[in-house]
Amino acid sequence: MEFSNIYEDAKRAEAYSKLEFPGTYYLAYRDLPEIIASHVKRTNALDFGCGTGRSTRFLQRLGFTTVGVDISEEMLKKAREIDPKGDYRLIADGDFSQFNQKAFDLVLSAFTFDNIPTMEKKVKIFRELRNLLKSEGRLVNLVSSPEIYSHEWVSFSTKDFPANKHAKSGDQVRIIQTDTEDKRPVVDIIWTPEYYLETYKKAGLETIRIYRPLAQTNEPYRWVTETRIAPWTIYVLRSR
Ligand SMILES: C[S@@+](CC[C@H](N)C(=O)[O-])C[C@H]1O[C@@H](n2cnc3c(N)ncnc32)[C@H](O)[C@@H]1O
Repeated sequence: MEFSNIYEDAKRAEAYSKLEFPGTYYLAYRDLPEIIASHVKRTNALDFGCGTGRSTRFLQRLGFTTVGVDISEEMLKKAREIDPKGDYRLIADGDFSQFNQKAFDLVLSAFTFDNIPTMEKKVKIFRELRNLLKSEGRLVNLVSSPEIYSHEWVSFSTKDFPANKHAKSGDQVRIIQTDTEDKRPVVDIIWTPEYYLETYKKAGLETIRIYRPLAQTNEPYRWVTETRIAPWTIYVLRSR
């Protein structure tokens, strides 16, 4: 089935731009400062699929000099509104030709691969991102765990989409973000860790570490499934 970028949409961009790190999202970003500090030595970063700039501003706060790239003009428009001094660039899908090879200490991709269909396309983009890494550079790929699509969470609901339970890597799945005013389901592509490992191999990337952050009961959220099952998976990768 054809897959189009649901983020090229003014209403979605507006809702997303107000999203910071509530609930389940808190868990996606909670451990990133420590993970990044332990793997990345210097401070030049590309934020691939920067959206409305939440992940880019997060990197800036960690001391990184950032460039954010995205294929959605609507999302970039919001990113620039919030951070007028920031460097946010529209790219054609898979086209990184404006960047020098080996330019970045860190490439962060936060949730972007949830929206990139097919093995072929993922491999192509990962190869391009790998070429942008300096020799000591690291690619941090934060994605949804497959389980996110078949459970309930503080910030997400999937109970209306029973078909998600039977979805295989590459299938479209639906999920509702309960923290935003845009309650239309988001359509993602499910991709299992086994498939990610295969994808990285094909793209010439080595997997250094995999993190699956779990919630703690003393955190200020009414966790639903987050203390038992990790909604997010964070891969740290380098060029092979
Ligand atoms: C869920 S948003 C995440 C935004 C941001 N990283 C964050 O954490 O808030 C995913 C973003 O990836 C972008 N995206 C999807 N496919 C892409 C591609 N092939 N190249 C660049 N960006 C892409 C979408 O336009 C969207 O802005």
